[in-house]
Amino acid sequence: MKQIKIKGKNKLTGTIRISGAKNAAVALIPAAILSDEDVTICNVPEISDINSLEEILRYLNVKFSRATESIIINPKDMTNKEIPEDISRKLRASYYFMGALLSKYKKVEMYFPGGCNIGSRPINLHLDGFKKLGATVIEENDKYTIEAKKLIGTKIDLEIASVGATINIILAATKAKGTTTITNAACEPEIKNVCDLLNSMGAKITGAGTNTIKIKGVTKLKKGYVEVIPDRIEAGTYIIIGSLIGENLKIDNIIPEHLKALTTKLLESNANIEIGRDYVLASSSNDLKSVDVETYYFPGFPTDLQQPFSVYLTQTKGTSILKETIYENRFMHVPYLNRMGANIKVDGKELKIKGKTQLEGKMVASTDLRGGAAMIVAGLISKGTTTINDVEHILRGYEGIVEKLSLVGAKIEIREIK
Ligand code: EPU
Repeated sequence: MKQIKIKGKNKLTGTIRISGAKNAAVALIPAAILSDEDVTICNVPEISDINSLEEILRYLNVKFSRATESIIINPKDMTNKEIPEDISRKLRASYYFMGALLSKYKKVEMYFPGGCNIGSRPINLHLDGFKKLGATVIEENDKYTIEAKKLIGTKIDLEIASVGATINIILAATKAKGTTTITNAACEPEIKNVCDLLNSMGAKITGAGTNTIKIKGVTKLKKGYVEVIPDRIEAGTYIIIGSLIGENLKIDNIIPEHLKALTTKLLESNANIEIGRDYVLASSSNDLKSVDVETYYFPGFPTDLQQPFSVYLTQTKGTSILKETIYENRFMHVPYLNRMGANIKVDGKELKIKGKTQLEGKMVASTDLRGGAAMIVAGLISKGTTTINDVEHILRGYEGIVEKLSLVGAKIEIREIK
């Protein structure tokens, strides 16, 4: 088990360069297998979710070479076979192999995906989409066999604007016969990034980034290239940190437009941030005031920043209501924050956060990826030392978090414990 220790209250100054987006990269790698030629993906983050996807590529005999920040994937000699349960369950994004293998081979056998335990996360909309395209789905003890004689383009109206279902249906429809139209599609920037790669490979997809996406099926995909967009959730986490304990902390290599929901709320609460062309400069402020926030689909306030933002709200004066509308159970970090001195009440889907409270370092745990990031934010602003256990969750999604924070002055270290 890995553990992070933080000695809090050190001002952070300097520059943090944001890495490629986890939630784009984890879809781009499965998308690449649709080609039979080289596909190059640049700005790939060094996180353990990517290592788990590489394990699937290796298992399916897909050749790839990884260099710093890039990966070249060549699926010419790949074999389609059942992806075992232990590999499927390592991460959520293993489910993108459903759409990709179905598209390429018209058959896929794999298990229910893994990912953070933040409530029931069904994949019914993915499966319904495959069925509408002409596939049959058999589920037995969490194992899915999805097969089609032919995939035929159709109209698919998503009941929920799900990121995963949107991408999986795009993957499955890319080589289908005719045109597929997805309405109420998710608009997250990661989806456009995936479509940009597929289009560079010869796919015919329009509308990505809006809620209506059209996919005109093609028979063959060739070599392709894409650069992973900057990780808006990693960036948002550091912007929150900078607003609490920064001194001109520059969060660099970002697309500010992707972070508008966060920066709007920060400015509303008097945060000391300056938004540049591709960076945000953040400094602490003694004058932060409470603000109400509700998570929502893009361009709304991202659920993935809800947990780090809950720590921010412990430092604002007054009572804030933070409502989670996407997941059932994304408040598991709250008891730890309260143990550190926060005053947070969980009321159904809402947090009632009373500030400002002085947090104190304690022994805590990372309950999930973003819950772990929240513990790091809390540790950095606390008096004394915070020890965070189970930090493997954090390493799934934040590239070099300990190194990045150390470089700007944080007293933070990671070690292996028994
Ligand atoms: N949903 C269904 N049925 C489905 C699919 C989704 O009911 O078939 C529900 C989910 O249970 C959830 C909501 O729809 O309540 C939205 O889920 P969505 O499918 O959009 O989420 P996801 O694709 O499983 C991705 C990210 C998440 C991020 C969400 C929302 C990846 C690998 N994961 O998940 O990232 O929270 O979109 O933006 O891209 C994270 O990075 O910490 C993380 C959890």
